Amino acid sequence: MFKLSASFVALVALIPFAAGQAQEWGQCGGIGWTGPTTCVAGTTCQVQNAYFSNCFPGAPIPPVSTPAGGAPSPSATGLNALAQSKGKLYLGSATDNPELTDAAYVKILSDNTMFGQITPGNSMKWDATEPSRGQFTWTGADQIANLAQANGQLLRGHNCVWYSQLPSWVSSGNFDSATLTSIIQTHCSTLVGRYKGEVYSWDVVNEPFNDDGTWRSDVFYNTLGTDYVNITLQAARAADPAAKLYINDYNIEGPSAKTTSMMNLVKSLKAANVPLDGIGLQGHFIIGGVPQGIEDTLRAFTALGIEVAITELDIRMDVPATPAALAQQSQDYQTVISACQAVEGCVGVTIWDYTDKYSWVPQTFPGEGAACPWDQNFVKKAAFYGIVSGFNS
Ligand code: G3I
Repeated sequence: MFKLSASFVALVALIPFAAGQAQEWGQCGGIGWTGPTTCVAGTTCQVQNAYFSNCFPGAPIPPVSTPAGGAPSPSATGLNALAQSKGKLYLGSATDNPELTDAAYVKILSDNTMFGQITPGNSMKWDATEPSRGQFTWTGADQIANLAQANGQLLRGHNCVWYSQLPSWVSSGNFDSATLTSIIQTHCSTLVGRYKGEVYSWDVVNEPFNDDGTWRSDVFYNTLGTDYVNITLQAARAADPAAKLYINDYNIEGPSAKTTSMMNLVKSLKAANVPLDGIGLQGHFIIGGVPQGIEDTLRAFTALGIEVAITELDIRMDVPATPAALAQQSQDYQTVISACQAVEGCVGVTIWDYTDKYSWVPQTFPGEGAACPWDQNFVKKAAFYGIVSGFNS
């Protein structure tokens, strides 16, 4: 928690016109910021950190993590409380078992006013849950399901079938279609059934398409064609009729061949009465690269009769981070959140872990990182306040 001294608070210039002034919740300062530095009347430019100041309604108030006297406002309480006050179901975070030994990490993760939902980043995947045929292991998955329950947080299940983190007994088993169907049904119904009643939504099928919109060539598609999708969705529905069933993918957040393929898949599954409740748009972005059409894309998916969620949001940059990059990142987080905020059927947003300390990015993209709203030392970055601004837009 950081403390705000009076010298950090710049008062709004009380001039009677708004030109060149930041709007309520808009950015009004910070290292590298070249936009307006005063706020519209009735709001106050308040320093959140060296990189980000924004316009709060009324007189100066304490920083986000310090509730004011009386009932704390949503923005003073946490991102999930803010998201819920704006009609969303949750603002959540991915997590993973190794980091649950880090008490400082767990303390922030477990605050359900900050995070109302968690997703296991790895421990419900096929390699973690059925490493050998018929041998199920639940230690890691149970730990995260129990954490969600203890914290009063929603749980997203991730995932039933995916080409990656798939044990070789599945990918190299040379099974015929009947046998692979049965293997999928056993895996997905056992996994989903174990957490019946505990999971808000499942990523039943993960990343079925290539970036050019063609079907990904993997053991599921190569053996069963597109039928593997309905086989898996039906197994999940039978195992937990109350859970929302999703297909989840990346690079479907704006207009693209892949987005079109996903929309066509939704249409054909709906037409065939296959159970499908939502599409997860992962949201792994690079600063400055959030698709222009994200709000329209979210809306277009919901027009097909399903809900949507941003399921794995992070926005990476070259490291070391510069002030300008961090300011851009804050804008980008704001863009994504405000797009979800604007679309009624967008139920929530999950950050793919909240701190740079445990982000997947540096391992996969050497030279890139700093993708999360909290830094390595659990200090909120400008991106955090971009999320606040996004919900308030
Ligand atoms: O389990 C081994 C461990 O035994 C070993 O000591 C360690 C050494 O590096 O590696 C461990 O495996 C790692 C695994 O995460 C579990 O921690 C893998 O190397 C690592 O590659 C793997 O990365 C995960 C990645 O999926 C794999 O594709 C990330 O943590 C996870 O965040 C990431 O999540 C995916 C989503 O599921 C789908 N969408 C994209 C997203 C980002 O890649």
